[in-house]
Amino acid sequence: MSRDTAVTAVRVLPHPELCPQGLRFEARPGRKLVDELLEHGIAIEHACEKVGACATCHVHLREGAEHVKAADEDEEDQLGDAWGLDAQSRLSCCVRVQGPALVVELPRYTKNHARER
Ligand code: FES
Repeated sequence: MSRDTAVTAVRVLPHPELCPQGLRFEARPGRKLVDELLEHGIAIEHACEKVGACATCHVHLREGAEHVKAADEDEEDQLGDAWGLDAQSRLSCCVRVQGPALVVELPRYTKNHARER
């Protein structure tokens, strides 16, 4: 695992409710992405308390995914329930921040929202 960067520049793309203007912040490598998002004011859902069992913390890693550890089988299984799944989908509670930069897109809906509609 690479630990050569002191911080990771995170850019969150605009989301109409959670982050209308988008957001940039510096994250500490090794921390869970969901924790960094929450600490920087993004009210991302985390219904299972960040243990990779609910898929409500789903994000898309639009850039920088090559620097983070790949999803394991359990994460892949949970992602099957995520709204708007694509090849860049990850559970933010399973992603440890790594590398020089990450670009994160928050899905328009979570699994819970999709059920309500
Ligand atoms: S908070 Fe439940 S899977 Fe991430």
